[in-house]
Amino acid sequence: MRLPPVSSWLLCVAAFASLGCAAGSANPAAPDDANDLAVVASDPAASARFEPLPAIEEPSVKPGINDPYFRDDGLYRYTRILESKTREIVRRRSDIVDAIGLEDGMVVADIGAGTGLLTTEMAKRVGERGTVFAVDIVPAFLERIRERARTEGLLNIVVMRGQERATGLKPGSLDLAFMCDTYHHIEYPKAYMRSLFEALRPGTTLVLVDMKRPEGRSSPAVLEHVRAPKSTVVTEIEQAGFVFDSEVDLLRENYYLRFRRP
Ligand SMILES: C[S@@+](CC[C@H](N)C(=O)[O-])C[C@H]1O[C@@H](n2cnc3c(N)ncnc32)[C@H](O)[C@@H]1O
Repeated sequence: MRLPPVSSWLLCVAAFASLGCAAGSANPAAPDDANDLAVVASDPAASARFEPLPAIEEPSVKPGINDPYFRDDGLYRYTRILESKTREIVRRRSDIVDAIGLEDGMVVADIGAGTGLLTTEMAKRVGERGTVFAVDIVPAFLERIRERARTEGLLNIVVMRGQERATGLKPGSLDLAFMCDTYHHIEYPKAYMRSLFEALRPGTTLVLVDMKRPEGRSSPAVLEHVRAPKSTVVTEIEQAGFVFDSEVDLLRENYYLRFRRP
């Protein structure tokens, strides 16, 4: 059996130690094809029909970073890591979701939803008239979110299998997008962020939470795993067309940024 790269494993221990239902929606506020999207979730090839954008030639900025998630033990291992109480995101998840500014009836996406830790909190905030698209590339995580939504009786979560270079979401379908510790896992950020930009309606918001990596204070494992500091992330997201709005001073180990989609 191939072992996970040392960096990924160390991330789990070092960073995460201090660190994936289509309950399909019969929801009038959801896009007309919300249930189609639930079907897309089980048919990855079909999601391409929402991708009219021409390809951007771009090498992976972090080859293999998501490989450990796809291993046979990926769900088991990463559920323990991502949902560990030693992780700031877990301890502060209510505050994090409160600060997003979700409102009843909103159609939003949890991009890189992982095991759905924050997805369910978001679903409670947007209520029965709203929809949360839980987007991830790892089928086992998506199944976990499905199970979680079923258990919690949340019928407003639509699971979507995204792609490495595109969300698979319908253009202009979102009121808000949220990414938590996902940006540094996006291998093709230029293409992906342009796709996310297209999925958002004009005048809406992208909320991005990601790991701090202060040089000289972060462990070598974190510096290796989290490829870029906040300043670079802001620049890259602005290059995708977003406008930086504000930083929310909420977390110690992660930064919390708000961008506008003009
Ligand atoms: C560190 S986990 C964070 C999970 C979750 N947001 C949380 O905070 O618990 C990063 C997630 O990003 C997902 N991911 C990586 N590339 C992606 C892509 N192109 N589209 C959607 N999700 C992606 C991974 O599968 C993984 O679930």
